[in-house]
Amino acid sequence: MEDLKGSYAFVVLNKYENKLIACRYKSPLILGVGDGEYFLASDVPAVLEYTNRVIYLEDGDLVIVTPNGYEAFNKGIRVERKIEIVPWSIEAAEKGGYEHFMLKEIHETPKVIEDTLFEYLVEEEITLDTSFAEDVNEIIFVACGTSYHASLLGKYILERLTGIPSKVEFASEFNYHEVPLGKTLVVGITQSGETADTLEALRKAKKAGVKTLVITNVLGSTATRIADNVLYIRAGPEISVAATKSFVAQLIVLYLIAAKLSLMPKAKFSEFVNELKTLPEKVQRLLDQEDKIKRIGEKLANYENIMYIGRGLGYPVALEGALKMKEISYTHAEGYPAGELKHGPFALLGKNMPVIGCLIKDETYEIMLSNVKEIKARDSPVVLIADEEDKEVEKYVDCVIRVPKTSPIFSPVVQSIALQLLAYYAAKKCEIDKPRHLAKSVTVE
Ligand code: BG6
Repeated sequence: MEDLKGSYAFVVLNKYENKLIACRYKSPLILGVGDGEYFLASDVPAVLEYTNRVIYLEDGDLVIVTPNGYEAFNKGIRVERKIEIVPWSIEAAEKGGYEHFMLKEIHETPKVIEDTLFEYLVEEEITLDTSFAEDVNEIIFVACGTSYHASLLGKYILERLTGIPSKVEFASEFNYHEVPLGKTLVVGITQSGETADTLEALRKAKKAGVKTLVITNVLGSTATRIADNVLYIRAGPEISVAATKSFVAQLIVLYLIAAKLSLMPKAKFSEFVNELKTLPEKVQRLLDQEDKIKRIGEKLANYENIMYIGRGLGYPVALEGALKMKEISYTHAEGYPAGELKHGPFALLGKNMPVIGCLIKDETYEIMLSNVKEIKARDSPVVLIADEEDKEVEKYVDCVIRVPKTSPIFSPVVQSIALQLLAYYAAKKCEIDKPRHLAKSVTVE
């Protein structure tokens, strides 16, 4: 264990001495204490059938288990670990005590960010291999659903930090486009690694002889066998059909790629990666004020139509917020670039059309605020996502969802999670984890 670097959890079976030796660091490992029997597993649902007495082993713990009992050590010193009684049914345990997988997975986001950073960031060094970008002068993202919105943010982040021109295509439409030959890198983003449209787009790019990269959550998925290069996000299993934690993990990998390929001066670079490391704590602070978002979400449940708006980085966030609301509350929700409203959607405004604005403290701030005033002037109820220190905005809107302050480039992380919670609480009546007519991964074109 002293020599190991990185996260791990493993068990050594010594059948000659009839004992199990297990240890963990960062990866989950629990010991189930039964009547004369003991169970080692990564999580509670695996042992609940046999016992609800569980020890949550701590980082650096080593445990020796024999039929007669167990001993736990940390750094070679014998330690006592408390037996916890798990009050849940197996089904509830799989949901970690949450009512739905979606809410559980939203609450796993701080850990998911940590795990993904842990995978690719050692102190201030980004270890992620970006050789796929050598000799590339254009990037094309191909994806579907929530992964498409992550790709759109990927375009903004990459262009801002590296200047590499980037395009984003719906994978299902990419099949009708000519693949530009030359120094193009086609990046497929897909949580499941099995979405047929994205697989087809990657195959088309390969056939055209351009380099391919896939960013996925599933080890050994089909996409990883098509693409030349693979980068994994570390979101863990995502059960709820609506993607939440995986979306944020996709953004973290995109930030790391962009930072590694960027031309940022050293000081700016370390400032960037050090702020990345603050995101788990900031997301936790946002999750701690869930009740405020819950109240607003429940109010929105009464509307049949909702509009989401944003500018710059806020636009893909608005699109993703609208998709979440559509997916799990069956409310007709549309995301728009705020600048587009006056070219048509203005006609929809009024007291039955609430508007949710994603306000980011960058060059879009002032113009976005004046868009909000124009919308208020047309009687639409307005909910604004703004950062916690922005006391200015309160007076222009009906309510404000405050998110922890970050540099503008990281606002999509905290704002998206606030919108995931908003959709969750606006959808109480619906089959949240298995929305009608949707699947976690669509394996047909
Ligand atoms: C849909 C899921 O079927 O596919 C969405 O319901 C998801 O949540 C989309 O964003 C794309 O899936 P993937 O696995 O390719 O990211």
